[in-house]
Amino acid sequence: MNRSWHVPVLALIAALGLARASAAADPAAAKKVDFVKDVQPIFKASCVKCHGADPEKPGKKAAAKLWLDDKAAAMKGGKSGVAIVPGKSKDSLLFKLLSGPVTMTVEDDDKEIAPMPKVKKGEKWKPLTDDQIATIKQWIDQGADWPAAM
Ligand code: HEC
Repeated sequence: MNRSWHVPVLALIAALGLARASAAADPAAAKKVDFVKDVQPIFKASCVKCHGADPEKPGKKAAAKLWLDDKAAAMKGGKSGVAIVPGKSKDSLLFKLLSGPVTMTVEDDDKEIAPMPKVKKGEKWKPLTDDQIATIKQWIDQGADWPAAM
C-alpha cells in the first residue's frame, strides 16, 4: 500500500500548527485593532468626561492636561509627558495606569498617579474589563493608529 501522501499532509498540518502558535504569541500578527470601532468607544465611555472638551463648559481643562478626544493633543501627552508610545504599550503611561497606580518622577518629585479610570476619593477603583485593557494594549503595540480626522 502506498503511504507516500502521509509526509506532505503531516508537514502541512505541522506548518499550520506553527503559524497559529506564532500568531497567538505575537500581538502585531493578530487582528488589527480599529481605533474608531474598538478604542474610541472605550475612551468616550470611560475617559473623555475628564480628558475631553465639554460643549456645556467651554474653556474647561482636561484632567492632568491630557486630552483623549483629539489625536494631536493625545499624542503630545499630559502633565507627566507622553502617555502613548506607539509600538510600546509597556512604556505607555496610559496603558500602565489601566492596571494600577504608577509612581513617576515629575519635576524632580516622585509622585504616585492614580489608576485610570479615576474614581472619587474613598471610592473603590473599577478597572476597565480585561478585554478592554487587552484592546488598548494591542492598539498601542500595533502602532497606535488614530485616523487624523477623529
Ligand atoms: C473622573 C475623571 C477621570 C476619568 C474618568 C479618567 N481620568 Fe485619567 N486622570 C484624571 C485625573 C484627575 C488625573 C491626574 C491623576 C493623578 O495625577 O494622580 C488623570 C491622569 C491620567 C493620566 C496621566 C496623565 C499625566 O500626564 O500625568 C493618564 C494617562 C490618564 N489619566 C488616562 C486615562 C484613561 C485612559 C482613562 C479612561 C480609561 C481615564 N484617564 C479616565 C481624571 C480622570
